[in-house]
Amino acid sequence: MSDSLIYFDNAATSFPKAPGVNEAMSKFLAEDAANPGRAGHRMAVAAEQMLDGVRLKLTRLFDCDDPNRMVFTLNGTDALNMAIKGVLGESGAPEGVHVITTELEHNSVSRPLQAMADRRQIELTHVGFNEDGFIDPDDIRKAIQPNTRLIVLTHASNVLGTIQDAAAVGAIAREHGVLFCLDAAQTAGVLPISVKDLNVDLLAFPGHKSLLGPTGTGGLYIGERCPPPDKPPDIFPGMPADRGASSLVDEASRFNPWREGGTGGDSSTPTQPTDFPNYLEGGTPNTVGIAGLGAGIDFINRHGIDNALAHEQALVATLIDRFADDERFTVYGTRDAKQRVGTVSINITGYDAPDVGSILDDSFGIAVRPGLHCAPYTHRRLGTFPDGAVRISPGVFNTSEEVDQLIEALGQIAG
Ligand code: ALA
Repeated sequence: MSDSLIYFDNAATSFPKAPGVNEAMSKFLAEDAANPGRAGHRMAVAAEQMLDGVRLKLTRLFDCDDPNRMVFTLNGTDALNMAIKGVLGESGAPEGVHVITTELEHNSVSRPLQAMADRRQIELTHVGFNEDGFIDPDDIRKAIQPNTRLIVLTHASNVLGTIQDAAAVGAIAREHGVLFCLDAAQTAGVLPISVKDLNVDLLAFPGHKSLLGPTGTGGLYIGERCPPPDKPPDIFPGMPADRGASSLVDEASRFNPWREGGTGGDSSTPTQPTDFPNYLEGGTPNTVGIAGLGAGIDFINRHGIDNALAHEQALVATLIDRFADDERFTVYGTRDAKQRVGTVSINITGYDAPDVGSILDDSFGIAVRPGLHCAPYTHRRLGTFPDGAVRISPGVFNTSEEVDQLIEALGQIAG
C-alpha cells in the first residue's frame, strides 16, 4: 500500500516513521517487554530504564528541568485533557474561574473547555485570528480578567500551519500570574521548543507526529507552578481522620490527577501517590510505543530540527507559490511559508473538499486530509464551514518530486 501512495497527511500522523523506530519496538517487545516498576526483576528494571531514558530525551529536547515532571500520555488529546482538567478540575474549576483560548484550537482543547463552560464551571473567552492566520498576543492580554487562571494556545494551527507567537503569550501569562498551556501537536519535533524561553507551564504533545514515533504515544510537561497535593492522606476511609499536611493544600493551586490507578511507585496509599510522574501515570504505559518514540527522537536529534523545518517550509512554499495567484484555487493563511510548519490548506473553486480528497486518493494515489480537521472554530472564521478545505501536510520524508506530482494532480482536477 505505502509503496504506491504519496503521503501528505503528516499533520494527522507522520508516515513513514523514522528509521530505527520499527527495530526499537521489535527489540523491546522481544527482549524487555515486562511491566516497568511493578517488580524488581531484571526485565521490569530494563523496561523502567528504557522509560526513564526516553523521559530524559524529551526533557532535554524541550529544555525542561525535571524529568519526573515529563509524563507519558497516549497522544496529544490525552495530554491536553490531563493539563486542562489537572488545572481546572475534572468536574469543574472553583466557581468563577476564567480561561482564555483561541479560534485556532483543535477539538482536543475546544471541547473539554466548552463542556466546562456549558456546565457553567468556567467562563471562556475565544480570541480570534487575523486573515493571515495569526493570533495577536495583545488580544490575549486584553482578554485577561482578575479571575483568569489559564491560557491555552496552539503553537501552530493544524489547519493553516501558522506558527503562533508563543513567547509573547507566555510572557503575558507570566506577567499576569496566569498559567500557560501550549498545545505543541503540530510543532513538537519540527520547531525548537524551550519551555523556559516560552514561559510554558504545561507543554502537551503527541509522539506520533513530528517526533516520528508510533501512535499511542505523547507527553505532558508540568512546570513548577502546577504542584500536586503535598501528599495523599495516609489513612484509609473509616480510620481516624488525620490528613496532616494534605489539609494545608491550597485547593486552587493543586494539580488534579486525570487517570488514577496502579503506578510503578508506591502501592500503599489509598489515593494516588503525589510524586511526579506517578501521580499522573496510572496504568501500564505503552512501553512498546515509547521504545519507538525514543528512536524517533534520536533520529530528530541526528537530522536536526532546523533541517526538518527548512525542508517542510520549502515544500509548502512551492505549493503556495503555485496556487496563491491561480484564480481556480484558494489558499488559506499567510503566503510566507517561513511562518508555517509543513501544512497548507486549499480549496478548488467548484469542488467540495471531500471530493478532492477522494479523487486524489482514488485516481492519483495521493493522501491528504479534507474536511474540518477537528477545528470547527478555525473553519468558521475562514468561511469554510461545514465543508472545510483540503489540507496538504508534507513531512520530513516527502520530496520535491512528490510535491510536483501533487501539483500536477490538482491542476488536472481543477481543469
Ligand atoms: N489532530 C490531527 C489532525 O489535525 C488528527 O489531523
